[in-house]
Amino acid sequence: MNRIAILASGSGSNAENLIKFFQNDPNNSIISIFCNKADAGVLNRAERLNIPSFVFSKKEMNEGVLLEQLKKDGINFIVLAGFLLQLPKEIIEKYPNRIVNIHPALLPKYGGKGMFGMHVHQAVKENHETETGITIHYVNENYDEGAIIFQQTTKVNPEDTPESIARKVHDLEYEYFPKIIQQLLN
Ligand code: GRF
Repeated sequence: MNRIAILASGSGSNAENLIKFFQNDPNNSIISIFCNKADAGVLNRAERLNIPSFVFSKKEMNEGVLLEQLKKDGINFIVLAGFLLQLPKEIIEKYPNRIVNIHPALLPKYGGKGMFGMHVHQAVKENHETETGITIHYVNENYDEGAIIFQQTTKVNPEDTPESIARKVHDLEYEYFPKIIQQLLN
């Protein structure tokens, strides 16, 4: 049985989608939600879906509190779903090829510092891209630079707005992120 933790900082719609998907998987279980923002939407979702959550500060994370809790929960796979902090080296070393992230663009384009959430979709729009998409990748010590596992594209039309691009990208995330994680684990 794989014991999965989701780390998220925001609304958590991907976290909710993952929780629902893995509810019926006998081999892989979402054990807990970890969050660095006490008022993040993901915490309400976790409560509603009966998944324990754990809130920590950046300082606590960097002092080892997060790794300690991951160990206590027996976590062997970590999913970043809108998690905005850089993970400490100790966690990355402890989980080699066991941490994945989803990025709302086609890396290496639109990655790196400051490229998160709507900033990504605004940049895609400003550059008149004709396609964008999602990238699921392993996490290493550098922002958005771990090995790419999977990408999927969607068209961007001239009439698209950053908001409509975000919706298209979210739809791809909901469709593919759970399946790709399941494939990696099985
Ligand atoms: C997603 O677009 C994901 O690609 C990015 O952060 C966003 C999180 O959205 N890493 P949500 O909190 O899952 O709704």
